[in-house]
Amino acid sequence: MSEAIWAGRFSEGPHPDMLRLTRSIEIDIRLLPYDLAATQAHARALVAAGLLSENEVAEIDRVADDLLAEWERGDLRIAPIDEDVHSLVERELTERLGDAGARIHAGRSRNDLVAQDLRLWCRDAAGRLAGLSRDLVELLTARAEEHRDAVMPGYTHLQRAQPISLGFYLCAHGAAFARDAVRFDAARAASAVSVLGAGALAGTTLGLDPSVVADQLGLQHLFVNAMDAVSDRDFACELVHACALCGVHLSRLAEEIVIFSSSEFGFLRLPDAWSTGSSMMPQKRNPDLAELIRGRAAGGIGDTTALLTLLKGLPLAYDRDLQEDKVHVFAAVDRVEACLQGMRQLMEAVVFDTDALALAAGQGATWATDVAESYVAQGMPFRHAHRAAGSLVAAIESGAADIATEVPEVAEGPARSVRLRTSHGGTAPDRVDQQIAALRAGCRR
Ligand code: ARG
Repeated sequence: MSEAIWAGRFSEGPHPDMLRLTRSIEIDIRLLPYDLAATQAHARALVAAGLLSENEVAEIDRVADDLLAEWERGDLRIAPIDEDVHSLVERELTERLGDAGARIHAGRSRNDLVAQDLRLWCRDAAGRLAGLSRDLVELLTARAEEHRDAVMPGYTHLQRAQPISLGFYLCAHGAAFARDAVRFDAARAASAVSVLGAGALAGTTLGLDPSVVADQLGLQHLFVNAMDAVSDRDFACELVHACALCGVHLSRLAEEIVIFSSSEFGFLRLPDAWSTGSSMMPQKRNPDLAELIRGRAAGGIGDTTALLTLLKGLPLAYDRDLQEDKVHVFAAVDRVEACLQGMRQLMEAVVFDTDALALAAGQGATWATDVAESYVAQGMPFRHAHRAAGSLVAAIESGAADIATEVPEVAEGPARSVRLRTSHGGTAPDRVDQQIAALRAGCRR
């Protein structure tokens, strides 16, 4: 077969340059396993409609298995005429099976086929990303348990604010990734819709039962409207957005690895295997992976913007612009998948300097809120208490007052502040235990 699948009404073949500029096979060949699964499911709908025999379906199944194995071995040939994965599969089926292959596209369009393939791809991708997010949460909670009682400074405005526990800090990042996991679950559910049977945009005259395809593909939900089914890419937007937000969360943790590992902070150390050197400065130990995770979040935001922009103002139903969606979906998923794995390994490898953290937690009058709150507990209005504690800070800083005489309880050190913050979601050790348990419960689903 050397002509395009749509050649019938054309008197000459496509210009090679047009084919080169419009083909998508280099990108969408990744959909092959899903295109084969969708094709096998469609074949069964054709059988149910009396348009294909059981023998022909068995042959199609056999060739589908062969094609998948050949692709996995790197042996699958892409012919110059193959515009996309769908035309490749149809050409191969037809070349290998004759009429059984030539019958496969009845009642089907590449419009509903690509919409189905991409949904199936996104369903698997979202499931993997939900799992990787939960793996990261598991790791962070394990490290939080390990450092439940370690004390560090908590920051606002990147100025020392109040003492917190390192376990509490790790749970804070864990909570964001736990929400990412839930978002990936939702993106997975949004992708799990059966759309084969929509045809090009308006359905088919051939009496195909779309529920046959849905059952075959394990999809509970059927499309409602054929025109919407071929043009809807909401599921892809939801997945790419979840990737972008997860990338942003990763970048915030990555940023703290970068600054906390600097000599200015000296709060943590990355082992040699997770550090990089400088080609010129022999002394350097750089946190390149954390920097790249921070930097790659830019791409996730870009892919989300690109996909939404692609869809904006696009008329119903299918437009070839939609072919461009896959570039962004694949890039967004690949990127965040690699970053989630990298971050888990990085956070496993990080060595916290708990002495440096405890020392920093006790500096910068991080006890001041505790003193103000102790005045409040004795009945003083908070604004007065704030002023009194503020004056005490100024007096101690200028050397006019002595901390041990004025606020002897502060001499106990920052661990006391941590212990006292027993409020809901607070940094006291028992509360951190609850947070670890809650995050873990969210992971076991
Ligand atoms: N390669 C196309 C895509 O990814 C497949 C659908 C093409 N449909 C069409 N009518 N030209 O969107």
